[in-house]
Amino acid sequence: GKTMIKDQLNRPLRDLRISVIDRCNFRCTYCMPADIFGPDFAFLPKSELLTYEEIELLARIFVDLGVEKIRLTGGEPLLRKDLPILVKNLSAIEGLNDIALTTNGVLLPKLAGELKEAGLLRVNISLDSLNDELFGKINGRNVKVQTVLNGIKAAQQAELFVKINMVVKKGLNESEIVPMAKFCKEQGLQLRFIEYMDVGSTNGWKMDDVITKKEIYEILKEHYLLEPVDPDYFGEVAKRYRYKGTQTDVGFIPSVSESFCSSCTRARLSANGQIFTCLFNGNGHDMKELMRNGASEEEIRQRIIDIWSGRKDRYSDERTEETARYRKKIEMSYIGG
Ligand code: GTP
Ligand code: 5AD
Ligand code: SF4
Ligand code: SF4
Repeated sequence: GKTMIKDQLNRPLRDLRISVIDRCNFRCTYCMPADIFGPDFAFLPKSELLTYEEIELLARIFVDLGVEKIRLTGGEPLLRKDLPILVKNLSAIEGLNDIALTTNGVLLPKLAGELKEAGLLRVNISLDSLNDELFGKINGRNVKVQTVLNGIKAAQQAELFVKINMVVKKGLNESEIVPMAKFCKEQGLQLRFIEYMDVGSTNGWKMDDVITKKEIYEILKEHYLLEPVDPDYFGEVAKRYRYKGTQTDVGFIPSVSESFCSSCTRARLSANGQIFTCLFNGNGHDMKELMRNGASEEEIRQRIIDIWSGRKDRYSDERTEETARYRKKIEMSYIGG
């Protein structure tokens, strides 16, 4: 049986988000702005990335300590070579009941089938606009909307469960709230509006840039009848509603206006093998060196127990413009959200 461990705020360990690579083929303005993540940016060399064997070892220990759900992230996880092999090995771990991936969708036409076959259950695909000009500006690489739509279609054809993530930033893409809602509703896709967050230290976040769940909800209410839906699982980050008379939900991830730290059961593993106990806590715990110095499985396990037991992060409960500016944080590209 599993060992259950709780942190200082009595939160169990349930999910593990694993970043498999710090690179991305997009340069989203709010995540990896092109002027900072330019041609000379020092991404991690291959030797600094955890190997699949290292990731699998950690994942098995995490599952034994209570993790039931693993999500692969990046950067862009589909850029990591042979990802289906990792998925296959992870999905073989006993006691894991959900394995998912967060992606910009570009490489799904190539990989969706293989990933499904390897045991992947679902994908969350980011799409912030249906307007080519705006989308090109947001993704920083002039990638066309249709490229992502092809990825969505490929995921659906592979029978992966699909959700769409839309980060909403004031002055950038609020004009796309209704078009995105309409499109996803017509396609029977679950869309989740994400409040823009102060991740990392390069996106220049201000409270004023946030469009809150309430504001978006008020806009939607002018067009649709919405009924609240119960959470799918304890600690689900999205608050969901159903379009009345349909089977389609729309959600909000209100991490700024209605923080959900009290039910946060997520640990994060960065591409270079550090454990982070909060998306906004820049103090990682290095597992790579521990493993490469020959630590035993028991030692690694004890280290993870100690890290989780000491955890008291609740950043989104505490967020102010000061913390956004001065707190030491980890870049999104290392931790994948
Ligand atoms: P599901 O398992 O489908 O519910 O996925 P998810 O929403 O947990 O993961 P996804 O990678 O799709 O993330 C959607 C948004 O939620 C991203 O903007 C994440 O940064 C954000 N998010 C996920 N977990 C946390 C968290 O623990 N804290 C905060 N503040 N944001 C989170
Ligand atoms: N605020 C909120 N969400 C963000 N994401 C990336 N940067 C931010 C931010 N600053 C989203 C991506 C993706 C998910 C992993 O996190 O769009 O959907
Ligand atoms: Fe890449 Fe996702 Fe960040 Fe955009 S939000 S730059 S797609 S990792
Ligand atoms: Fe968890 Fe930190 Fe997000 Fe709060 S801010 S929900 S503690 S990751």
